[in-house]
Amino acid sequence: MSRLDSFIRRMQAQRDCLNAAVQMLADIPGPVLDLGLGNGRTFDHLRETMQDREIFVFDRVVNSNPKSTPDPDHVFLGEADAQLAVAAARFGKSVALIHSDLGTGTSADADLAAAIVPLLVPLLRPGGILVANNRFPADAWDELPLPDGVPAERYFMYRVPV
Ligand SMILES: C[S@@+](CC[C@H](N)C(=O)[O-])C[C@H]1O[C@@H](n2cnc3c(N)ncnc32)[C@H](O)[C@@H]1O
Repeated sequence: MSRLDSFIRRMQAQRDCLNAAVQMLADIPGPVLDLGLGNGRTFDHLRETMQDREIFVFDRVVNSNPKSTPDPDHVFLGEADAQLAVAAARFGKSVALIHSDLGTGTSADADLAAAIVPLLVPLLRPGGILVANNRFPADAWDELPLPDGVPAERYFMYRVPV
């Protein structure tokens, strides 16, 4: 498989998992956190598919396409760990969906996930969902089956037990 094939499949998996989470959360209120604004593609997809939600993004810098750049009131700017603590103080356990797209595709991703997961626990409400581009050591949460067509280990979904 070429790197282009691999990239396309990862993006398809990302979109399919986000769409599945959106459906599962239809009756679960709460804001959405998109960790890793980047170009703003997933932020844009989330605001298209969850039009009635507040969506907050996290990144070290805002370098997104102007067409998919949130207003400054919806940006947590800085290192994700420090900013997640700020978000927890603000939102408490009210968040419906967290999408983590922070990884770099290297062995450092596992360390990042391990460092971040304790910061997500105080944020995600019961029934809330984490969609992630790498595995999280989320032992207290249920790992969800992936949507049809998404290969194992390509993307990850977890739900907080109700
Ligand atoms: C793969 S890109 C996100 C792509 C984005 N979701 C999109 O659809 O365009 C990852 C982003 O995460 C940010 N990032 C990575 N590690 C971070 C950290 N520890 N704290 C804050 N931002 C981080 C990077 O600056 C980068 O913009």
